[in-house]
Formats: sequence, C-alpha cells, structure tokens
Amino acid sequence: MNRFQPFKRLVEEYCGLEFNGIAEQRLHKAVSKISAALGLSLAEYFAKVEKNPVELTELVNQLTVNETYFYREPAQIMLFVQTFLPRLQKLVNNRPIRVLSVGCSSGEEPYSLAIAIQETWGKAMLQQVQIDGGDLDENVLVKARAGIYSPFSFRALDEGLRKKYFQATRNGYQINADIRQAVQFFPFNLKAERYPAEDNYYDVVFFRNVSIYFNLATRKDIQHKLQKMMQPNAILLLGSSETLGNDFGILELVEEQGQYYFVQGAELLQQAGTPQLSHDKPHVLENTVISAPVNVLSPAKLSVADTAKAAPQLQPVLTHEAAVQKIKELLHDSSQYQQALIKLEKIIVQEPDNAPAILMKGWILLNQKEFSQAQKLIEQALEFRPWCLDALIALGLCHKWQSEFDMAVQSFKKACYTNPESWLAHYHLADTLKQLNDKVAAQQTFQTVRRILSNNTSAHSGSEWLPLELPVKDVLFLAERHLLNFKKQPEHSVSGA
Ligand SMILES: C[S@@+](CC[C@H](N)C(=O)[O-])C[C@H]1O[C@@H](n2cnc3c(N)ncnc32)[C@H](O)[C@@H]1O
Repeated sequence: MNRFQPFKRLVEEYCGLEFNGIAEQRLHKAVSKISAALGLSLAEYFAKVEKNPVELTELVNQLTVNETYFYREPAQIMLFVQTFLPRLQKLVNNRPIRVLSVGCSSGEEPYSLAIAIQETWGKAMLQQVQIDGGDLDENVLVKARAGIYSPFSFRALDEGLRKKYFQATRNGYQINADIRQAVQFFPFNLKAERYPAEDNYYDVVFFRNVSIYFNLATRKDIQHKLQKMMQPNAILLLGSSETLGNDFGILELVEEQGQYYFVQGAELLQQAGTPQLSHDKPHVLENTVISAPVNVLSPAKLSVADTAKAAPQLQPVLTHEAAVQKIKELLHDSSQYQQALIKLEKIIVQEPDNAPAILMKGWILLNQKEFSQAQKLIEQALEFRPWCLDALIALGLCHKWQSEFDMAVQSFKKACYTNPESWLAHYHLADTLKQLNDKVAAQQTFQTVRRILSNNTSAHSGSEWLPLELPVKDVLFLAERHLLNFKKQPEHSVSGA
C-alpha cells in the first residue's frame, strides 16, 4: 500500500480535500517535510496526527490552496450588490442582511463585498449588512483579520479603489478600519457535521472556488448543509466555472444578466423592481462590469438535464467531439471566454472524463490568471491523457507564469519527450532554461528548434487543442538571436536538457 494512503484518507475524512493523480505530490511533500522536521518516521507521524487534532489541523493548513484576490469575478459581485441587495432589503424587514463568504481564504472576497456595497450605496447601507467570512485554514484567518495584503492581491482591483481603501504599511497595504470592522472571520469546516450558524440564517452565501477540491459526494453533502443554513429566499453563488458542476437539483439554478446562481425559493425572484435602497451616495464602481437595469428580470431556469433534453429540437445535435472542436475556435478571442466556459461546463457535467474539454477550461482559467484552478484542471486532463502535448505545454506555462521555472522545465521536457519534433515544446523549454540561466541546456534546446524549423518552416507544432501556435518566423528569429548571444557570453552552467 502507498505509505501516504492513511494520510490521504484522514485528510479527506476531516475536510474533504482530495489528493489524486499529480496533486498527490503536494500531500507527499507536506507530510515528508513535517515528519522530517519532527524527526519522526511516517508511521510515527501518522499516529501523532491521527490522535491529535492540533497536529491534523497543522498538516491541513499546509495543504489548502488559498489563491484569491480582490474583485475576483466582479460581475458576480456587482450582481449581488446592485441587484440582490435591493431585493433582499424588501424581504428582510429591518433586520441586517446576512452574507457569508465560506472558503474566504485571506479575506479578499468578503472585503471586496464590503467595498462594493460602500462604493455603490454608501456607508449607511454597509452598516445594514452583516458580512461573515469562514475558512478551514486558521493561518489565512489570521491574515484576513490583519487585513494586510501584497500587490498580488490587487491584480484585478482598480488602482483608484486600492488607494481609497488601503493604507501603505511596512508589511504591505492594510485595508481601512471601517471596512475591516464590517467583516467578522471565524473557523468553518465545510466537512463538519454541524455548521457554525443556525438553520435558516444567511441571505446570501458566496462559496466560490472551493468546490473544485471536493468529490461529487462531498459537494452534494455540502450543498445540503449550506441549504439548511440558508434563509427560505437565499442565494448561493459558486465561481462561474464550477456552478454547473454543482447543479444537483437541491437548489434551483437560475441565470440572470449572464451569471448563474442557485436560489432557495422563488419569492426573491418575484421581488424584482426598482431598487428602493436608502443610500447616501449612489454611484457605481469605476472599471467594473455594470449589470443590466435591476427592473429587467426574467430568470431563465436552466437545469443541465433540461437543456440536454431540449437541445435536439432547438439545434442540430452535435456530438461532444464536434462541440469541443467548435469551442476551440472561441479560445482565440478572450471576449468569448465566458461563452466557451458555459459550453465546456455543460459537456464536462455530462462527460466528466472529456479531457479536451477539461483542458480547454483549464486554459481559459490560466489566461484569466486563476492559476490554482487552472493547474488542477490541466493536471486532471493529464490523468486521462498523460502524454497530451497541449496539456503538458499548458502545465509548463502555468508554472512558468508563476515563476516556478524548475517545475515548468519538467513539464516542457515531458512535452519534448512525447513529441520530439515539436518545435513549440522545444522553444518553451529553451526559453525557460534560459530564464534559469542554464546556458548549455538552453543552447542545445534552441539548436533543436533551429534544426526542426530550418529544415521545414511549415513543420507542425504538434498542438491540437489549444491556441498555442507561435509565428514560426519569429520563433526561428529568436532562436537564432539567442544562439548568437550565447556565443558572445561566457558559460554559466553545464547541466544538460
Ligand atoms: C481557492 S480559495 C478560494 C477563496 C475565495 N473564495 C475566492 O474565490 O477567491 C479556497 C479556500 O477554501 C478553503 N477550504 C478548503 N477546504 C475547506 C473546508 N473543508 N472548509 C472550509 N474551507 C475550506 C481553503 O482553505 C481556501 O482558503
């Protein structure tokens, strides 16, 4: 038996996180690192973790993926602020509107909600909303409470808002006290038997970019428990790329203003009308997606099963393979990403092992800088097709764009191995080796690129699914130029590719 299997089982039982395929390496690394630091064998360390909840929590804190940033998926945030809040205000009868961000990580998501409410409706409205943030990982909760962030957290936030709501400190930018006080953080394990809130409590639950780490049974179980905690008219939002994969018929799936969400009861939907919020300074955010007028509401109920049933009458039947081929065309244009994601999601729900669809979804998320989700999807595609050139290159790029050059080299090397005549794979490998200052290996690899392309400028790159092509002339020109530069420079390193 795999020596790490008992850890895998224990972690899954405790918090639902699954480590399969390539992701299992993360578990191996964390377990090996902690047991070595404690001077224990794996068996001794397991006995400690199994008995002691503090040890288990510390291990789990090392395993969570906490990637997040301010104003992630702003269209959903604005739908909540501009559309849901006015409707909810009519329903709640003077009590606060209660919002939960679960899997809130270091707080960027709940703080974004607080900022967006204040920006749109003013301070008085923010005081009428109770915002809670819960997460399993206690380390991120400490960071959330401190509210100090590095520039990486601001990658999608308008600079004007950054300046308005954050103060520079020695350790980073700290969020203003009034916004910080608007959010309460507490430990929350979605796998726990009981949740730390009464039944029928929350009006809106943000559960975004968390479900991808759980298996189907866990996701269903979590949705049942979230439903119990939600008000009769509450709304549940998942990340746009994971919503359709969580449509279990437990809550109703609704599409509005191009966004999908789940709703508990129909009453809220019938409340559409002109917003009647008392606001001291109504205005909308600069540089955010502005939603359609609030009084235009015709929620189209969309269950994947229904869509599949209705499809033959509406349009010619496309096999999944043909549909995926069509979606490929959308990947060339980032303005088509949302449409492509919805189509891909429908295919994946019906055919969870459709590797090209999973890979394409990963590619879109990678281009949206959703690195951890993208990596997970690309690795999942590789589990079904371990030697897929596009997936190996995409994984390499995912590592490279996060400055994980050693890992990028590993993926590009595999890509070269699987397709030795792919100039594209060799070019990415060479370029990454150059970044690592591995001059000899980079030189050899650029020579391979030159050999392939100077024999045949129309040589196929080997790419099949993703828009990975680079202009051959430019690649050849760059390879020649780097080779010339290497000749001029003294050698730094001697390792081979
Ligand atoms: C990728 S972050 C998502 C952050 C934020 N919701 C967003 O969309 O930007 C996923 C978070 O889920 C948390 N998480 C994982 N398993 C959990 C569980 N069983 N209960 C609560 N939170 C969990 C992780 O600790 C991590 O902070």
